[in-house]
This record gives sequence, structure tokens and C-alpha cells, in this order.
Amino acid sequence: MTIESGARPNRILVVDDEADITAVLADILAEQGYDVETADDGKAAWDKFSVETFDLVVTDLKMPEVGGLELLRRIQEAGRSTLVIIMTGFATVETAIEALKIGAFDYILKPFKVGELLQIVERAFERLRLQAENLQLKEQISLLKLSEAVASSLSLDEVLSLVVEAAMKEVDADGVELLFRPPGSAEFSRRLGVGAQGPWPPTLADTARLEACLRDVSHLQFRGAALSPFLDPHGNNGIRCMLSVPLRRGAETLGVLNAYSQRPHQGFLPREEKALFVLGDRAATSLEHALLYSDMENSFRQTIQGLALALDTKDSYTHGHSENVTRLCEATARVMGLDEAFCGLIRQAGILHDIGKIGISSSILNKPGRLTAEEFGIIRDHPRMGRRILEPISFLRDVVPVVYHHHERWDGQGYPEGLAGDVIPLAARIMQVADTYDAMTSDRAYRKGLPHEAAIDELHRCSGSQFDPCCVEAFLQISDLGGHAP
Ligand SMILES: [Fe+2]
Repeated sequence: MTIESGARPNRILVVDDEADITAVLADILAEQGYDVETADDGKAAWDKFSVETFDLVVTDLKMPEVGGLELLRRIQEAGRSTLVIIMTGFATVETAIEALKIGAFDYILKPFKVGELLQIVERAFERLRLQAENLQLKEQISLLKLSEAVASSLSLDEVLSLVVEAAMKEVDADGVELLFRPPGSAEFSRRLGVGAQGPWPPTLADTARLEACLRDVSHLQFRGAALSPFLDPHGNNGIRCMLSVPLRRGAETLGVLNAYSQRPHQGFLPREEKALFVLGDRAATSLEHALLYSDMENSFRQTIQGLALALDTKDSYTHGHSENVTRLCEATARVMGLDEAFCGLIRQAGILHDIGKIGISSSILNKPGRLTAEEFGIIRDHPRMGRRILEPISFLRDVVPVVYHHHERWDGQGYPEGLAGDVIPLAARIMQVADTYDAMTSDRAYRKGLPHEAAIDELHRCSGSQFDPCCVEAFLQISDLGGHAP
């Protein structure tokens, strides 16, 4: 399907209660290539204007019933782009000036020369052309901004919601629905619907039929009998028109973007078809990028976590330490009523908290005797090293402060920054408790692990000095804590 330009001849409505004048004017203007209609009074003109589209109305001022000024007011209130030129005799020139004040484009004094009239008419059409260009430019800029926002997003959910919001802004629709399926999948796994008043209920029922229709076209409009087979007969929301755009990457269709109108006799304009098509095209590219990025992010995350877990095996005594800390941190966060996002963050930080030890030799990590001052310095450097390793990875941005501060103490006597109290990130304060508990209850090269009860006594003793008391209190409420002792 091609996108229509919507071009048509310029239409003028000539209004005068003197039939000779309307006839002459109609002839002169028609000769210039305008599409001219006439009306012999203001009321007849208004009746025509209500059902037809005119670019310009040239009207007499003094007419019975509905005069030129009243006609102008009604045209102004209709909110269309139509311009009005007033014809007037010298005696009523003041009224003509009044007409200019309320929005007439210009007036012309009777009797007038043909050349004069044509000049004013030409100027009116020049104004209309500039207005249309201006509007088109504004629309293009807004579409460009929206499509750039869609293109620059790398999150799948963000792309999907940006596209439906942008479609609602760009197309005069009552609702927009987007169906998405990942590449290689037969089912549409995601659906988003937005209407003018909020969420838009599922409207499209037969996706397979729609896909078949869209196979070789960039977009399609469906109305009347052609539309009903696609919609849910019980929940079609009174839809009168549907504009559909396939979201296509190569031969594969990733989704369908639909705009719905409930208004009778009104299809979507060529401009709106174009806007939805542009958005659909941008959306398809962005969805593909978001999917690739999410694959890449997942495999990168798995690689980093694999490295961190491999680190545990370097030290036979700390085997499973990161996983224990992760489990205990998450359990504490849940006791504290922290949300899913926080739990996700603390899980990642738990696995990665000691990643900075990756560069420390096993002979130091597993040393049975006392560490020298230099060796101790190397161990103490692991939060800093952890930060250096994780900092360049954008999607681990929020994990970095937790890893960096997990050896700070509540009383400010910890490292690397000596932060105190609630300046220390909450996740790091929780981790301080879980990390210490797991270290105390595990065997080390240089000592046996403490029994569970002794470790709990130690947590009580250090609550308020080494540990945030709230975190200790929450930690002690973990339901299976007693069973954790190694
Ligand atoms: Fe550590």
C-alpha cells in the first residue's frame, strides 16, 4: 500500500445575497483553477460549511438572517484552518475592521477590481500553505524526537511502552495496542494497550488473519465489514476503524502495532498512516537491538558470576561462601520488607562481593599462619579492586557501591573509606552481618568455625559497633538461620 499525499484543488466558498455578484466571482475564481461553490446567504453558507471542507470563504457582510460577521464567528468556532475574506461597502468599513479583529484574513471594498480580489485570494492561499508547512514541520519534529527516544532505548519494556505512548501522541486514535513476540517464537508473548483514558483492553482477536493480510504491505486500514473478523465480538470497544502496522525485521514479524478509532465515518489520515509506519519501523529495529543487548547482558552477567564463583574454589575453606552470603543477605532484606528490586541488587552484590580477591594469590588467601602487614594490606585492598573490576560494566552500576563498602563498620572503624552509620549503603550494612556470620561459622586454614550460637553471641556483642543494630535484628529473624551452621 502506498502512502497517499492527500492533495486536492483549493476550495473556495463565495457567499453573497446578490446572485449576480456570486456568479461573476465564481466564474473569475474558477478560471484561476480554484474549486468554487456558492451560497446566496449566510445560513446556506453555514449549512454547506458544516458538511464540506473549504480552504477559503469570501463573504458579503450584510446579509439577512446570518450576516457575514456571524458566519465568520461560527467558522472561527469550528476550529478549522479555513480563512475568511469579507466583502463590504464603504458604509460598513468599520464593521469590516471589527471582522479583522475577530480573525478575518482581510477585507475588500466594493466595488473592487478583479486584480485586487485575486491578489487577496492568492495571499490567503500563501498563508494557508505556510500554515500547513509549519504544522507539518512541527509534526515531523515531534515524530523525530519520539522515534529517537525509541531508537536510543535498550530496554525491551521501555521500547514497548515508548512506542505505544508515541503512537497515541502521533495518531488521533482512541486506543493503541502493541503485540510482540520474540524472534523464533510462534506466540505473541507481550501485549501493551493504551487508550486516551488509561489502559486499553485487548481488542485484536485474530492475529493470524491480520498477519496474513499484512504479509506484503507496510500498513493497512480496516473499516466496516472488513474489520469485524479481526476483533473480539464481545469486547470490540465499538471500534469503527483499525490501522495496522507490522513490526518487521527482515523476513520475520516481531509484532503488530494497531491504532483504533471509535468514531464513525472517519478513517486515519495519510499523515497518521505515515507516522504509525515510521514508529513501527523504528520500534522493530529497537526491539531487535534490545533483544540482542539483553542476550549480551545475560551472558556477560553469567560470565562475571561464574568468575566470582570460581574464586570461591580457589580457597578450599571459603567454598560456597559467596552463595551463602547471597542467600543470607536476601533473607535479611526480605525480613526488613525491602522490595524486589533491592533483593535483586543484593543477590548480585552477594555473588560478586569478594570479586576483588581474584588477583590475590592462593598462598595469601589460604595462609595458615599470621599474615604479614603487607599481606594484610593486600587483603584489605579487595573492595577497591572489586570496584575497579565492576565499575566499567554499566548494568552492574548499582552493585559497585555495595561491593566497595562491604567492609565498612557501623562505628566508622572499617575500610576502605571508614564510613559510619547510615552513610554506608544499606545493602553493604546487611552484607557486613551476613558476611561476618558466614566467615565465623566456616572453618579456616588457621582455625575451626564457631558454632552457630557462639556466632550469634558475637553478632549481639558487636551490634552497634561493627554492625547496624537494625540489620543484626533482622538477620536474627531469618527463619532457617539455625540450620545454616556448616
Ligand atoms: Fe570481603
